[in-house]
Amino acid sequence: MAKPNSHRRSPSGGANAPRLFEMATTAPQSSAARAAEASAAFPRLRYMGSKYRLVPYLADVFAELEGGSALDAFSGSGVVSYTLKAMGYSVTANDFLAFPTVIADATVANDDVTLSDDDVARLTGPAIDDRDFIQTKFDGLYFTHEDRVFLDSAWSHIDRLDGAKRSIAIASLVLAAARKQPRGVFTFTDLRYDDGRRDLRLPLREHFVEAAAAYNSVVFGTGAPCRAIQSDVFEIDPVGFDLVYLDPPYAPPKDDNCYIKRYHFLEGLSVYWRGLEIMEDTRTKKLTKRFTPFSYKRTIVDALRDTFKRFSESTIVLSYSSNAVPDAETIERLLGEVKSEVEVRRIDHRYHFGTHQAASRREAVEYLFIGR
Ligand SMILES: C[S@@+](CC[C@H](N)C(=O)[O-])C[C@H]1O[C@@H](n2cnc3c(N)ncnc32)[C@H](O)[C@@H]1O
Repeated sequence: MAKPNSHRRSPSGGANAPRLFEMATTAPQSSAARAAEASAAFPRLRYMGSKYRLVPYLADVFAELEGGSALDAFSGSGVVSYTLKAMGYSVTANDFLAFPTVIADATVANDDVTLSDDDVARLTGPAIDDRDFIQTKFDGLYFTHEDRVFLDSAWSHIDRLDGAKRSIAIASLVLAAARKQPRGVFTFTDLRYDDGRRDLRLPLREHFVEAAAAYNSVVFGTGAPCRAIQSDVFEIDPVGFDLVYLDPPYAPPKDDNCYIKRYHFLEGLSVYWRGLEIMEDTRTKKLTKRFTPFSYKRTIVDALRDTFKRFSESTIVLSYSSNAVPDAETIERLLGEVKSEVEVRRIDHRYHFGTHQAASRREAVEYLFIGR
């Protein structure tokens, strides 16, 4: 792993013209290395903007900071919350969507509960009621008939579970569905990306068994209490976090970054579509969009400013990618409005696109902003 380029910037001398100077990189600390290793086993959900590959860099930074309580305010796949937990932080994982919250509940908040072989046998056995919502609503759209029957059937059992067992069962169902769906996104309903991979052939029931084993294997406790909450970032009580990690969905220059458009099926599946509104006239039967000011060029600057203000009492670590809006100078200036010291680390990070045959590469620069 290449070391991140690192420099420390001071916003003194006018917020718009911060001074740059070099800072020596710190050697990886053992707790960071251990946490990165633990996080490598974290079950991988294909999730837009997930930071799986940046975990070793993030762990290095977290290890340098003081304090024992941390908020991961945009937890997504959960991998960063899990890394913080592995480093001994008392973690609050937050996302405004339900399925990231249930994943964090199963893996971050949960210290010792796993699904037994009997639990898994029951969850994959015959249904205990005749519900058929998934079978009928998504007929001809996603998965095979048998797969959809299994999803309804699994939920007939999940409705009798509570606590961490329920969360692991739902997280496993979500991971199973994400793995079986081509590219893990629900923006199309045909098999245009069907390349015959095992993941696309394996029955959902078997995916579920594998996913449950994967989640079971990463359950551990550190003695530091952790929790998972589902909230808009602007509604989180900001008091009591030594460290706040922010990884918001930046406005992309082109296209959009709507999580609901891509993952509506996973969101619905995580609550059995209860309380959610399906847009019946859409081809993909997607859910109504959840507004977030971070996704739009005209609102993201104010949203970031408000977020930094909200967590100004904590050390802020912010992830940012160069192919996003606003630019890095703006982020640095905004953070400098509430923090006396703003450090910027550049991580050269290659994204891979396309198939193996036609692989193309593009350089994207990942930044970490640290405000103290
Ligand atoms: C870039 S992703 C986070 C990725 C995560 N760090 C990971 O490694 O998987 C951004 C997340 O922010 C969530 N989000 C967007 N707007 C939000 C808001 N206003 N409040 C809370 N969460 C929000 C999205 O649901 C999404 O999961």
